[in-house]
Amino acid sequence: MVTIRPGPVNVGGVELQNHLLLAAGVLGTTGASLSRMLLLGAGGVVTKSIGPLPKEGHSGPCLVALEDGLLNAMGLPNPSKEFVDELAPLAKKPVVASIFGGNPEEFAEVAGWFSGKVAAAELNLSCPHAEGYGAAIGSDPALVEACTRAVVRTGLPAWVKLTPNVTDITAIGKAAEKGGASAIVAVNTVKAMRISTGLRRPVLGNRYGGLSGTAIFPIAVRCVYELYEAVKVPIIGCGGVSTADNVVELMMAGASAVEIGSAVHGDIQVFEKIRAALYAKDGVMASEIVGCAHG
Ligand SMILES: Cc1cc2nc3c(=O)[nH]c(=O)nc-3n(C[C@H](O)[C@H](O)[C@H](O)COP(=O)(O)O)c2cc1C
Repeated sequence: MVTIRPGPVNVGGVELQNHLLLAAGVLGTTGASLSRMLLLGAGGVVTKSIGPLPKEGHSGPCLVALEDGLLNAMGLPNPSKEFVDELAPLAKKPVVASIFGGNPEEFAEVAGWFSGKVAAAELNLSCPHAEGYGAAIGSDPALVEACTRAVVRTGLPAWVKLTPNVTDITAIGKAAEKGGASAIVAVNTVKAMRISTGLRRPVLGNRYGGLSGTAIFPIAVRCVYELYEAVKVPIIGCGGVSTADNVVELMMAGASAVEIGSAVHGDIQVFEKIRAALYAKDGVMASEIVGCAHG
C-alpha cells in the first residue's frame, strides 16, 4: 500500500493535525467527546449538526447495526445555541461546526453563533431523513448556492456536505463552489430502509433512514471522483472508510482529506490504527496521490 509522508495539512481553510477527521454526528455530541477524539488521533473533528432551534429528533428505534454498516434516522437531535458553550475548551483546536437550517437566513444565524469560535462551518445540506432540512435543501442547486453564500458572509470558511441521493452530484458541487465554499464534503448517508420480517414493519421509527459504513464506500469513491472533475475547491471524502487503504483510494479519487464516522462507532481506536498504517517518513507527498486516478 502507498504510504504518505506526515506533515502539516491545510484543507479548506483549516489546519489539520493529519488527513483524518471525525465525521459529523458520530461520537461528537459533547465538547468532551470531541476532545477525546482529537487525543485518540483524529486530525480534526466535526460536531453534531446544530440547528436554529432545539430539536429532540425522531422517535426510536433511531439506529440499527447491519452486517456492513449502520442505518440511522436520528432526526437531527440537538440543543441548538447552547452547544456553542461546549466548544469553549476546544478554542484554537481543529474543530468544524456542523450546522443546518431551513433557509439561507437560518444557516447564517447558526453560523454566526460559531463565528470566531471554530475553524470552519460544515453545512449539512445532505441529511436524508429530516423534513425541510438537509437533503431537502441540498438537492436544489439554487438553494445550495444561497445557503453557502449566507454562511460565507459570516466570515467562516464554509465546507458544504453533499448528499449522494441526487442524480447529478456535480451540479450541486458546482453550486456550492459558486456560493463561495472553501471545501466540499462528499458524502452524507444514502437514503435506505429495512423491514423486520418478524414484526412486518420498518425497523426504524422514522421508516426511512441513512445508510453508512462499509456498504457505501464505493458510492463515496464514485461521488468524490465525479466531483474532482467538476470543481476546483478541495474535496473531503466521507463514507465507509475504515482502513488506511480506503483513505488512499479516496485520495486517489480526488479527496484532500477524509472524514470517518461509522468505523469510529465500531472501534474508538480507528484513527490511531489508520494513522499507523497510512504515514511513513519515506512515504509520498499526499499531493502526489490526490486525484492520481484521473486522466
Ligand atoms: C449515528 C449517526 C449520526 C449522524 N449524524 C450526522 C449529523 O448530525 N450531521 C451530518 O452531517 N451527518 C451525520 N451523519 C453522517 C456522517 O457524518 C457521515 O456522513 C456518514 O455516516 C457516512 O460516513 P461513514 O460511513 O464513515 O459513517 C451521521 C451518521 C451516523 C451513523
